[in-house]
Amino acid sequence: MNDSTIIKLKDLPKGAARCPGAPSTQDIIAADKVAAPGWVRSESYHFMGDEDISKDRYIDADYAKREFKNLWTRTWQFACREEHIPNVGDYHVYDIGPYSFIITRVTETEVRGYYNACLHRGTKLRASGTEGSAEEFKCSFHGWSWNLDGSHKETVCHWDFPHVEPNNFALPQVRVELMWGFVFINMDPDAPSFADYVGAEAKSHFDKWGLEDRSIYLHVVKRLPCNWKLGIDAFLEAYHVIETHPQVAISNADANSQYDTYGEHVNRFISTLGVLSPHLYGQYTEQDIFDQFTIGDATAMGGAAKPKVPQGSTARAEMAVMFRGMFEQASGTDLSKVSDSELLDAFSYTIFPNIFLWPGISLPLVYRFRPDPHDHRKCLYEVFFMKPVAPGTARPMPAEPIRLQDHQSFCEAPGMTEAFGKILDQDTDNLILQQEGLEASAKSGLTLGNYQEIRVRHFERAVDKYVGK
Ligand code: FES
Ligand SMILES: [Fe+2]
Repeated sequence: MNDSTIIKLKDLPKGAARCPGAPSTQDIIAADKVAAPGWVRSESYHFMGDEDISKDRYIDADYAKREFKNLWTRTWQFACREEHIPNVGDYHVYDIGPYSFIITRVTETEVRGYYNACLHRGTKLRASGTEGSAEEFKCSFHGWSWNLDGSHKETVCHWDFPHVEPNNFALPQVRVELMWGFVFINMDPDAPSFADYVGAEAKSHFDKWGLEDRSIYLHVVKRLPCNWKLGIDAFLEAYHVIETHPQVAISNADANSQYDTYGEHVNRFISTLGVLSPHLYGQYTEQDIFDQFTIGDATAMGGAAKPKVPQGSTARAEMAVMFRGMFEQASGTDLSKVSDSELLDAFSYTIFPNIFLWPGISLPLVYRFRPDPHDHRKCLYEVFFMKPVAPGTARPMPAEPIRLQDHQSFCEAPGMTEAFGKILDQDTDNLILQQEGLEASAKSGLTLGNYQEIRVRHFERAVDKYVGK
C-alpha cells in the first residue's frame, strides 16, 4: 500500500475503511451466476468505538464467577437438539458451569427443563452428561420421585414430612423454547422471548435455513486451553486466516470478508470461498485456487482427471457448478435455484453467548462453547456436523459425542476430515499462547480492528453488559 492510500484511508470516518484494491464480499457475490437471497445480500456494520477491551475478562477467576452469576443465568442457551429427545420421556442433561438441567419431552409437542436437583437434600436427579428415557425422576439417595410433568410423585415415609405439601414440591422449571430443531433454555423468568432476544432481522435469516430439517451426523468434543471467550473470539474473524491458516487463504477472500451485527445478541461474517486472498494477489492462478479448494473432492473422485477452469471463467464459477452437481447427487434434490454463495461460502453467525451457526450448504456446522466450571482458563468446545434429513423421513438419532483428550489432534476424531482437523489444531495452538500471553502481558487490554474485529467488540460488549463492572 503506498503512502497516499494510507492517507486517504485515514481520512475516512472510523470503521469505513475496507481492504484496499479488493472487491467487497457483496461485489464477489453479485458476480455469481445463481443470485443470492436477500439475507446474504445485505450489510449491517456499525462502528462501535476503537478503545481497547479489558483483559481481565479472560484471566480473572472472579470475572468468571460474575459470569456464572450474571450472564449464564440470564441468556438463552442451546441445551440440546430436539432429536436428542424424540420420544415422550426422553431426557438430556444440560450443564452450564455449576448449573444443571434435565431437558425432557413431556408430550409430543412439549419440552420442559427442570433444575437437576432433588427438593429433599439436593442430590442431582440425573448425573451430569447423561441422557436416557424415564417414566419418573427418582432420587437415588432416599427415593423421592417426580412425574415426567414435574409434579411431585412420592415422599418416602411421608408420615415424617407432614410439612411437605406435594402441590408445593413440583420441580422448578427453566424457560424452554423450541426453535429450528434446537431446544433453548433461559434461567431468567424476566428475559425477553427468544425471538425478541435475537431480534426480527436476524430471525428472518435463521428462519430461511431449514435447520429443523438437519440432523447431527458427527459430534466432536474437546477441552480447549483457554477462557471460553478467547475460544469464541478466535472464530469471529477471518483476519487470522493468512497467518494461522495459510493453506486456506489461497481460496478464501479473507481480508475482504464481510462483518455484520444485529442488535445485541447476533453477529455474523460472510467469508467467500473459491476466491484468492487479497494478501496473495498475483501469486496464484484461477486454476491454483480451484485445485486448492477441491483437493479433498478431487481425491474423492477416485483419481478422475481434475476439471480445468476454462479460459475466461473463474475458480469460483466452476466450483459452484461442481458443488451443485455433487450436492444434488448426494441429496437427491434439485438445487438449481440455490445460490452459488449458499453452496460455497462460509457464513458464521453467533447467538450470544455461546453458539455459532454455520448454515452454508458445503459445511453446515454448529459450535458450542462452555466455560469449565472449575477453571476459567479452560473451556469445552463442541462441533456438530449437520446434514439434511431426507424429505419425508424422521430426524435420525444424533451421533454420540466423540470426546478427545486434551493432547489429541482434532484429526484423530473418526469422521473429521484432515483439512478441517488441521484448521482446528492451528487455532488451538494459538489459544494456549494467547491465554498465557494475556496473563504475561504488560498491556491491560486488547486492541481491535474497526471492521474485521467488530464481532469481537460486539460480543465482548454484550459480555460487559451482562456481567457488569
Ligand atoms: S436427597 Fe433426594 S431423596 Fe433425599
Ligand atoms: Fe481459525
